[in-house]
Amino acid sequence: MLTQRRNVLGGLTALPLIGCAQSVMPMGGTASGPSGSLDELAQTRGRRFGSAVAWNVQGTGMSVSNPEYAAVLKAECGVIVAENEMKWQKLRPSVDSYDFTAGDAIASWAVEHGMELRGHVLLWHRPEWFPDWLNTHDFGAAPALEAERILTDHIQTVARRYEGVITSWDVVNEAIDHDTRAPIETSLSRAMGSPEAVIDLAFRTARETLPNAQLVYNDYMSWEPAHARHCEDVLRLLEGMKARGVPCDALGIQSHIEMFALDPSTGVGRYDEAGWRRFLDEVTGMGYRLVITEFDVKDKALPADIALRDAKVAEYTRRYFELMLDYDVYLDDILAWGMVDAHNWLQYFEYATRADGREVRGTPYASDYVAKPMRDALAETLTAV
Ligand code: XIL
Repeated sequence: MLTQRRNVLGGLTALPLIGCAQSVMPMGGTASGPSGSLDELAQTRGRRFGSAVAWNVQGTGMSVSNPEYAAVLKAECGVIVAENEMKWQKLRPSVDSYDFTAGDAIASWAVEHGMELRGHVLLWHRPEWFPDWLNTHDFGAAPALEAERILTDHIQTVARRYEGVITSWDVVNEAIDHDTRAPIETSLSRAMGSPEAVIDLAFRTARETLPNAQLVYNDYMSWEPAHARHCEDVLRLLEGMKARGVPCDALGIQSHIEMFALDPSTGVGRYDEAGWRRFLDEVTGMGYRLVITEFDVKDKALPADIALRDAKVAEYTRRYFELMLDYDVYLDDILAWGMVDAHNWLQYFEYATRADGREVRGTPYASDYVAKPMRDALAETLTAV
């Protein structure tokens, strides 16, 4: 397999092996938990554990070229996903060009280190995540045909580029508006007549291009009571896709779980266990598999005290994974959206930043690359039956 994957990427420029000789084991927080990397522990239940990564030439942040970050990935992960590098904004400088520099660097790193690579994302169906040129494109006299040509070309080109390396793709991301509750309109959907026409074409093209890949619809519906309506809307979308015979295999549950208010009875963030189970039952009942694609924790409602905060984040994590692991037979890979606090998007995402201005502590490793109690909570629950 690895040989095949090496051949696939044989033509790509290998990433300079900055810091790759280093091998660092988790540096703390693991004494009482089960031994092994998070990926090894996940593998005992037949799935992989991994994380989002980035790529830059400076060797900073969550880039695979940052030796300290890469050491954590090598110590803990069996699968990685590009945080931004395979999105249209990065891959598509213009209507007739592709720039695979960053995406290829991440793919090469994964192959070099024997890791799986998930694909994110063939179509994030929101104007704010389209490149500017696509939002303002002149679709001409036959707009539907032109939109279909652009979308099909993108999906075929990107999927083929990483064929044999990426075997699970987020095909469509976040296609429903949280407030209006309707599928989101973009330049593509206006040209093609409806958001559904775009979504269906994206999945059908992905299936034709990669008949054996897992095709995922990915969204942020979640177990907090505030997400109940979005859960209903995603169910309707999934039902519609089933009814239309759209080739979607799994629901990607982003799992950016959030503590915006504490429940006095548990001391952690509020969650609707019964409602979330009903949602998961309906999704799996329709035949969809589940993937945890972007796990991290917002700690807004917790006090500043670090020991207390880390304990509560770990407790919320433990409760979430205990519930999710009840869906063991339906659940595929589990990925965090970054492994180290300092390099995680919650530090700059407006809904996540803390009123006290302190760093959000929502990933398994602290900013000094030391494992936190959250890492133990993952280790303990990943092996649960
Ligand atoms: C985020 C990245 O982490 C940020 O760097 C970027 O500015 C915005 O996108 N859901 C998704 C991911 O599907 O692609 C998002 O990633 C986080 C929310």
